[in-house]
Amino acid sequence: VVARLPLIAGNWKMNLDHQQAIAFVQKLHWALKEAKHLDDSVEVGIFPPFTDLRTVQTLLDADKIPFALGAQDLSTKDSGAYTGEVSGAFLSKLNCAYVIIGHSERREYHGETDEVVAAKVQAALRHSLVPVICVGETLEQREESGPTAISVGQLEVALEGVPADADIVVAYEPVWAIGTGQVASPEQAQEVCAKLREVVAAKLGPDAGQRTRVLYGGSVKSANIASFMREPDVDGALVGGASLVVDEFAAIIRYQK
Ligand code: G3P
Repeated sequence: VVARLPLIAGNWKMNLDHQQAIAFVQKLHWALKEAKHLDDSVEVGIFPPFTDLRTVQTLLDADKIPFALGAQDLSTKDSGAYTGEVSGAFLSKLNCAYVIIGHSERREYHGETDEVVAAKVQAALRHSLVPVICVGETLEQREESGPTAISVGQLEVALEGVPADADIVVAYEPVWAIGTGQVASPEQAQEVCAKLREVVAAKLGPDAGQRTRVLYGGSVKSANIASFMREPDVDGALVGGASLVVDEFAAIIRYQK
């Protein structure tokens, strides 16, 4: 049995400018340090807006803060005449380790198809970024095709052409649970996360299935995180709203204590 390092990831979405980001990261670091809860039993990831990344990188570096940095999106292209796009090359140069791909808000508001998501996964891998591949169904889709079919289909396309040794993260985010307070039950999360691990194993091989972290996202709070982390196939959380509140996010990170 492979031990997977839990990942607690904060997706800030379009919140906190670069000045607010400094204050936030410092406070979070202090909160965890003070409680002596910064150890290597859990990986903390933060995903600020693009315009904050350079500032946050400098701060993490200067104060030796052990948070992993990630972006919320990237271009399918590496450089060129693509106004408004951000290349994965720029993100790796800023020491980003991760990049979120295919978040349901990108799929819904920016028309990202499964094929675009797959091209972004390839772009991330070209630049040594770990893609955090988001999948999940709407309530309507769940009622129509059951709990796993949509996520499985989305992940299968996203993994097209991904090499067996690639480092990837999968995040199951049921759309009906995002920002709604209507959290999935741990059993519901486990059911889909286990299925997604099977998809990784089928596509990339059993080793990848064992090693790949599968996260749950959607109304995760300090009050419910432990119940998700008890599930065998849930290896962490992708947290939205609660990642913007220092004490709440710190409490989520300390779920084991
Ligand atoms: O990516 C995280 C997310 O979509 C969940 O958001 O606010 O329900 O935690 P929230």
